[in-house]
Amino acid sequence: MAVQESTRQESDTGAINEPYSGYLLRDVPSADAEITHTDPGTPMGELMRRYWQPVCLSEELKDLPKAVRVLNEDLVAFRDNSGEVGILHRHCSHRGTSLEYGIVSEGGLRCCYHGWLFAPDGTILETPGEPPDSRLKDSFRHGAYPAREHMGLVFAYMGAPGEEPEFPIFDTYEEPDDRMVPYSVWHDCNWLQVQENIMDPIHACFLHMTMSGQQLSESFAGMPELEFYETEGGSGMLFVTSRRVGERIWVRTNHALLPNFLQIGPIFPRTNMSTYFARVGNTRWCVPIDNNQCVLMGWRHFSDLVDPEGQGREELCGPNSIDLFGQDGNRTYEERQREPGDWEALIGQRSIAVHALEHLGVHDAGVTMLRRLLREAVRSEIPDAVASAQRGTGGPHINTFTQDAVLKIPPSGGDDRTLLQEVGREVFDTVMESVSYFGDERRAFVRERYQEMERSA
Ligand code: FES
Ligand SMILES: [Fe+2]
Repeated sequence: MAVQESTRQESDTGAINEPYSGYLLRDVPSADAEITHTDPGTPMGELMRRYWQPVCLSEELKDLPKAVRVLNEDLVAFRDNSGEVGILHRHCSHRGTSLEYGIVSEGGLRCCYHGWLFAPDGTILETPGEPPDSRLKDSFRHGAYPAREHMGLVFAYMGAPGEEPEFPIFDTYEEPDDRMVPYSVWHDCNWLQVQENIMDPIHACFLHMTMSGQQLSESFAGMPELEFYETEGGSGMLFVTSRRVGERIWVRTNHALLPNFLQIGPIFPRTNMSTYFARVGNTRWCVPIDNNQCVLMGWRHFSDLVDPEGQGREELCGPNSIDLFGQDGNRTYEERQREPGDWEALIGQRSIAVHALEHLGVHDAGVTMLRRLLREAVRSEIPDAVASAQRGTGGPHINTFTQDAVLKIPPSGGDDRTLLQEVGREVFDTVMESVSYFGDERRAFVRERYQEMERSA
């Protein structure tokens, strides 16, 4: 059962409210470490380590190892000569040389300095400078994490041994005719502000439609009716936006799973004809590199349903590159100043956004909800629902809730905003009720309900 979040914000108390008050307002409090810091041993760092996290793209592992930094840990990823992927602590356990300068070899990665050979599981296979009867290599292991590849992404499990979760397979990986293209995008800021961005859907009306040119399709221009919902057991949250587009109502639901997974609806939605259950344009994890940098990693989705006019550019998706305006730091500073996009807005919130200096309004309820859920998750034993939401539900794969519905429901003559809210809630209820169906059955269930809504309009 979903719980609706209150949109009421507490008013500030003791706020300074006088002109030229810079001198009085110059102190910058420290960041909200509990939910922003992810070093080993921190509450959020340990929560993140409970889940498989993407660390690089498969295409980045060829004949050279790749240095990666994940959750404040320096690692090296490689693919050995048999094709197996390994993720090791970066510094050699002999005398500390970085294994990014190592040689990809048969069965593992060989350090350049004295030739020690490390298997993907951290077993030390050879110490060639030692005497033949040396037992040194058998007396300890090098740090290693389990790795897994899926559809062009390399994932690591960096949590405690023996508590490795099932690898999650989400239903959207099996949408008909959908092509999933891996990508990554670096951000010079903390992970949380990047994750929060999608739970702040109102920014689309401003940043993407009026402040900085028109970066999205016309349908995003109008202020939507907006609601936020928490999913069962605090495992995640959704926003529901409902907009009037002529005779139709466009309802988008975007779903975030704790701690750092999120799916975004179609990037180029078609809103001039009825659309039933168009799923995901972007599947992504926001992975901390350290406390001051993060990387978005995931897949762009391309199909006739989520990109009917073929506006996406698959060939632009790859390492630190995505086919969407303003989403990476690859433009010149002047270009980014003149036409800022999400990347500029997010890194512009400081290296780590300072929550204590914010003045949140009614439409920031999604940001508030996400922070509350994360705080609850790190303060308690991880609720079963949080842990299980990414670990399988007993069905063939894990159903998620991001989708678009465009339904022919003309204005009724009454208050249209009330109608938008009602339709939004019915779409939300339908999507939530569909969770017990899978694949074609789920699509048919939702389609039938949407068509019934159109018939009774
Ligand atoms: S430092 Fe790596 S083998 Fe000596
Ligand atoms: Fe945005």
